[in-house]
Amino acid sequence: MLGRRRKLNHRGSTVVYLIPVLLLFLYLLYSQILTTSPPSLRLQTSTPCASHTHSPELKFLFYAPHSGFSNQLSEFKNAALLSSLLNRTLVVPPVLDHHALALGSCPKFRVLPSRDIRLSVWESSLLLLRDNRYVSMADIVDVSPLVSSSTIRTIDFRVFASWWCGVKIEMVCSSQSTSLEPSVFNRLKECGSFLAGFGGNVDGCLYAIDKDCRNTVWTYGEDEEDGKLDSFQPDEQLKKKKNISFVRTRRDVFKTLGPGSEADRARILAFGSLFTAPYKGSQLYIDINKSSKDTRLQKLLEDTDFLPFAPQIVNAGKQFALNTIKVPFLCAQLRLLDGQFKNHWRATFSSLKEQIKSLRQGASSRTINIFVMTDLPEGNWSTTYLGELMRDKNNYRLHFLREGDDLVHDTGRELAAAGNGYRLGITPNGIRGLEEIKMNCSPQRLPDVLLYIEEVICSCASLGFVGTAGSTIADSIDLMRRQKICSS
Ligand SMILES: *[C@@H]1O[C@H](CO)[C@@H](O)[C@H](O)[C@H]1NC(C)=O
Ligand SMILES: *[C@@H]1O[C@H](CO)[C@@H](O)[C@H](O)[C@H]1NC(C)=O
Ligand SMILES: *[C@@H]1O[C@H](CO)[C@@H](O)[C@H](O)[C@H]1NC(C)=O
Ligand SMILES: *[C@@H]1O[C@H](CO)[C@@H](O)[C@H](O)[C@H]1NC(C)=O
Repeated sequence: MLGRRRKLNHRGSTVVYLIPVLLLFLYLLYSQILTTSPPSLRLQTSTPCASHTHSPELKFLFYAPHSGFSNQLSEFKNAALLSSLLNRTLVVPPVLDHHALALGSCPKFRVLPSRDIRLSVWESSLLLLRDNRYVSMADIVDVSPLVSSSTIRTIDFRVFASWWCGVKIEMVCSSQSTSLEPSVFNRLKECGSFLAGFGGNVDGCLYAIDKDCRNTVWTYGEDEEDGKLDSFQPDEQLKKKKNISFVRTRRDVFKTLGPGSEADRARILAFGSLFTAPYKGSQLYIDINKSSKDTRLQKLLEDTDFLPFAPQIVNAGKQFALNTIKVPFLCAQLRLLDGQFKNHWRATFSSLKEQIKSLRQGASSRTINIFVMTDLPEGNWSTTYLGELMRDKNNYRLHFLREGDDLVHDTGRELAAAGNGYRLGITPNGIRGLEEIKMNCSPQRLPDVLLYIEEVICSCASLGFVGTAGSTIADSIDLMRRQKICSS
């Protein structure tokens, strides 16, 4: 009897202890929902789809790029490829700030869910517009060859958002409209949240893809591949440790999302990140076979593999190589501070040393000219190998560009004036064009073009190029060098 009573008491007191914990938990959960749920979960709004009867033949592809420029460019190329394969008009995003968005890690199966990354991209784009810092991807890279050959159709994000949300988007960026701006801004955020998929998919209107690199590898035109397991799977240990049940399946993008599918009926097909990279013998997210026998696909892969910078940027880079450096030079791209690169200084500098050594052996004792592009501030060079080179004035001459240099400044101004991105995209019937947007939203701050010009200069380096292993910037320069953009 006593024993039983004690037991009951014991249990009773556990419950008493648990109540505050439970309350705290419920409170945290509630406040979490309040702070993180997007507006559409809180407000009942009619779907943006209902109002879109204009140009019913137009179908769009939206995607959500992330991280630095080179990464955003590689996702843009994948988006161009997919939009062409699926015959959809590509929504061209702005260039996002380097650290505005991170995806996470596909190999570690830890990535931001697609709808979260879509919402973040949407909101970051609006903020760029509001701060008058909006620069379209199509301002920086030259997509005109792809558009004029009808390989892709594009629409500017700003025109698209005006159409989709039914607002004059220029109100967000015109400084005069302070009283109207908050409500327009909120409305834009709400319809962005719907597009991101927080309101669910709507037949005929929106198909927001929640598949990502943890569970899907997109393929094309290889029938026997569709539905197969990919060769890279999470191992048992990881599955246990992370409590995940992911299985990575290869899916044909055309069969899954193309004609006849539910996705194909939707006006808007929204991908999340389109980041992919080779990993353990496969691709992390998109594996469209470069050696396919499909000649149309081959041509498309060729066309989207290399998108040159806008002519203004290419000219600036060539000009610096020709008129400022004037002589043959070596380019050193040294990524030293960002992320993983902090830990690889030794390897990065040793490949530069090797290259210089072989130049010394090969030729003369003349001064070697080196163009340096690095994220290490000039003030920190002196204690590194760069300092050694700098001091050895008889043998080396270092060249570099700074943010404040006239060339950089002038190129930014030229680009802003040219507004390349404004000129290419389509404008759905019944929607005003970009004129009002352009009038009210001209950038107050010039686009940040230093990196792009540096890349072009490096593609002009006839003595060679030393990049940082694993840097997407190095890959991009290698590609430009192979395309010989400097001599064309
Ligand atoms: C591609 O889309 C355009 C415009 O929506 C349409 O006119 C054309 O017929 C489509 N092409 C194919 C092959 O479906
Ligand atoms: C593991 O995940 C499943 C669902 O994904 C969940 O129901 C379960 O509680 C989780 N287990 C642990 C130990 O977190
Ligand atoms: C790519 O296609 C070629 C030719 O169709 C085929 O031999 C090869 O196995 C494919 N590669 C992959 C990775 O599927
Ligand atoms: C660069 O120099 C500054 C000022 O001397 C110093 O505080 C900083 O730690 C240095 N950074 C690196 C990465 O060496």
